[in-house]
Amino acid sequence: MTENQTLTVRDNRTGEEYEIPILDGTIRAGDVGQIGRTDDEPGLAVYDPGFTNTASTRSAVTYIDGDRGILEYRGYPIEQLAEKSTYLEVAYLLIHGELPTKEQHDQWVHEITFHTFVHENLKSQLQGFRYDAHPMGMLLSSVGALSTFYPEARNIKDPDIRHEQIVRLIAKMPTLGAWSFRHAQGKPYVYPDNDLTYTENFLSMLFKMSEQKYDPDPRLAKALEVLFILHADHEQNCSTNAVRSVGSSQVDPYSAVSAGIAALYGPLHGGANEAVLKMLKRIGTVEKVPDFIEGVKNGDEKLMGFGHRVYKNYDPRATIIKKAVDDVFEVTGVNPLLKIAVELEKIALEDEYFVSRKLYPNVDFYSGLIYEALQFPPEMFTVLFAIPRTSGWLAQWLELVDDKEQKIARPKQIYTGGRQLDFVAASERWA
Ligand SMILES: CC(C)(COP(=O)(O)OP(=O)(O)OC[C@H]1O[C@@H](n2cnc3c(N)ncnc32)[C@H](O)[C@@H]1OP(=O)(O)O)[C@@H](O)C(=O)NCCC(=O)NCCS
Repeated sequence: MTENQTLTVRDNRTGEEYEIPILDGTIRAGDVGQIGRTDDEPGLAVYDPGFTNTASTRSAVTYIDGDRGILEYRGYPIEQLAEKSTYLEVAYLLIHGELPTKEQHDQWVHEITFHTFVHENLKSQLQGFRYDAHPMGMLLSSVGALSTFYPEARNIKDPDIRHEQIVRLIAKMPTLGAWSFRHAQGKPYVYPDNDLTYTENFLSMLFKMSEQKYDPDPRLAKALEVLFILHADHEQNCSTNAVRSVGSSQVDPYSAVSAGIAALYGPLHGGANEAVLKMLKRIGTVEKVPDFIEGVKNGDEKLMGFGHRVYKNYDPRATIIKKAVDDVFEVTGVNPLLKIAVELEKIALEDEYFVSRKLYPNVDFYSGLIYEALQFPPEMFTVLFAIPRTSGWLAQWLELVDDKEQKIARPKQIYTGGRQLDFVAASERWA
């Protein structure tokens, strides 16, 4: 510790002073707990609902600088990965911490490709869902169910066993996601095609009908690849925190990842792109954009897909998605809502209201347009997020399992209820 890397705190209740070390720009909650501690009283605690200013872990997976609009996986800028890499290579990078050699890459792709099939009993489980079941509900329960097919997965201290579950999870997510999609349409589930790449195979399982072999459009497969790379990790967000929190009980990774899927299911996390689409449809025409913007400035509306808790600059993923939009529309034809989106962005980026509040487009502003162009119903949007995020969740889970500083997650509370009440039996209360 260099000199002055401490915080001097004076407890005005007692006049006592404490010197608390500052490490990595943080103070230890345990050190705060020494303040005011006596034999009878607990020390000071920190109240931080939603962990807005609490670091829960050290992590070397993803770096974000929200003010500068920087996102890096394992130190590599997202822009370079989206342009030059594939999703599976990025997944390898996230999980292993380094880019693969040719042999490592080929082995990794081979392993993932040959674990894409799921047990037939799991297929029966999916088929048992109601015809209109939400695909996220199907996905989270089937991923949880995987733990029953691989009971050895609970040996989380064994690196070989861990590796096998990681491969299985990354491999099977597109299969389960695609089958959840087909289920709602009453179409037969399509088995994986191991001749295809990860995203091509996903497209095949989604859209193949009676043809012998599905021939995915390479531009769509590439756009999906980019979207998957952009969604692979985003450090300690709600679903990653869920995976880590549940994983801290040392449960198997299937159960931990299904907790992540459950967190992603919530509208505050995975649902914003659907809200963007609804907003664009409601606006209806480019001419109505100025009125809508006025409504936002008056506080009557929210410009969905703008603003971010972390990014106070252009979300770097939004810039990349915008390029992918053009590629997809080249295949599918232009979605008329795009014009409205472009006009909204143009006005908002020049308007004092948005500029002064540092409100820029986020990843969801354009992704919904792409998903709709690919004919996904809005319920599938979050599934399309969960599939690539699996590699990030697992990279974070691996870090957790090996982190000697981690303990079972167990936050404190400020108790606000009654105390020492006298229980009166029901027979007397209701008499
Ligand atoms: C993402 C989001 C929840 C971040 O919220 P936050 O960091 O807590 O920011 P705040 O809610 O404190 O917003 C700061 C100011 O900007 C305004 N603001 C934030 N997002 C806005 C939006 N999308 N449209 C209009 N005004 C917005 C707030 O009203 C507030 O204004 P005020 O200072 O006059 O009260 C928020 O920007 C939002 O709801 N965006 C739309 C939903 C969305 O796209 N979510 C996806 C995120 S990936």
